[in-house]
Amino acid sequence: MIPGYYEFRNSTKILSGSRAIENIPFELKNMKVVKPLVLTNKQLVSLGIADIVVKALEKGLLPAAVVYDDVPVDSSVNVVNDVARVYRDKGCDAIIAVGGGSVIDTAKGASIVITHGASDLKQYMGSEVLVGDRMVPFVAVPTTAGTGSEVTTAAVIKDTERHVKMGFVSFNLLPDVAVLDPRMTVGLPPRITASTGMDALCHAVEAFSCRQANPLSDCYARAAIDLICEYLPAALEKPKVQKNRLAMANAALLAGVSFSNAMVGIVHAVGHACGGVAGVPHGEAMAILLPHGMAYNLEVAGERYGELLLHLAGSGAYCVEHPADRGRAAIEAVRAMNRMLNEKTGMPLTLSEAGVTEDQLPAIAQAAINDGAIAFNPKDADYEDVLALLRRAF
Ligand SMILES: [Fe+2]
Repeated sequence: MIPGYYEFRNSTKILSGSRAIENIPFELKNMKVVKPLVLTNKQLVSLGIADIVVKALEKGLLPAAVVYDDVPVDSSVNVVNDVARVYRDKGCDAIIAVGGGSVIDTAKGASIVITHGASDLKQYMGSEVLVGDRMVPFVAVPTTAGTGSEVTTAAVIKDTERHVKMGFVSFNLLPDVAVLDPRMTVGLPPRITASTGMDALCHAVEAFSCRQANPLSDCYARAAIDLICEYLPAALEKPKVQKNRLAMANAALLAGVSFSNAMVGIVHAVGHACGGVAGVPHGEAMAILLPHGMAYNLEVAGERYGELLLHLAGSGAYCVEHPADRGRAAIEAVRAMNRMLNEKTGMPLTLSEAGVTEDQLPAIAQAAINDGAIAFNPKDADYEDVLALLRRAF
């Protein structure tokens, strides 16, 4: 798709490989860093995953690193402000985020507070205020293969007092360096592997079909889908094989670059709402909702989905003779992937299986139409449209 006008950016340097973490000290020295703050959580410390990074820093003669391991599963503005305080108090000069989307987004939030010499992230709500350069060298080391947060311009931080999620979008939030090392993900349990992988697939499919898609984001999306369809089953079959994990980490990154530039649509809008109202884990919501979102968009995006059929179904695509049937067949390929993941990991196929109750559907629909992602969906959707989609996915 070639729009009349588009912008595309990914300025993050990528280090990808079986011992990529060992090269972080070199990158830090290039950025004149001497005392990085390693941001992570207690679970990653207890599993020895954070220590792989700390040891690499020590080996690279950066023994002064400070470790902050208090980032909770669902981070908040208070945690962000605390990280910024520790960064200043300890005299740190860079952040290395080791974790999933929550840890990386916390680092992004803290970098805003530190750059502006402020004490509270709440002052910077909205996307337009992040002008000027970021003053914090920033390395992201993802420990799941899904969010793509290591290469995205967005951060979502919860304001626990007002019960709202604050969204920030700025090129200033892109990490300087993203490090993909399979040692970070070889121990992921099957269901997390499956759900995070489907989040990445959803990023690629939505980015490819939404209003801001462009030729460059399309390339990244197609490449991500190819890797996911080949290596998500492989990573479940042989989870300890580093090649499978590295391929999924690359897929999540490619999908992240794609949607960071092209944005996502109705599946993410409804999925965010399912998380906020009913606590459905993001990746599981994505897997359940993706075929329903594609079906909703079919009349306007069918041709685009059809273009993805070869990537989603491989040689199975050649069985679909008529071009008009390819979009529908692409949806069937996603459903087949979901059934396989359900069999192998017990991942739910419906919202009711995921713990959503019928009386929650109106609140989810209301939250979804207020979500920013819905504006980029290829087809307009109102409250009734979303409610009908939710009933089909229930
Ligand atoms: Fe997502």
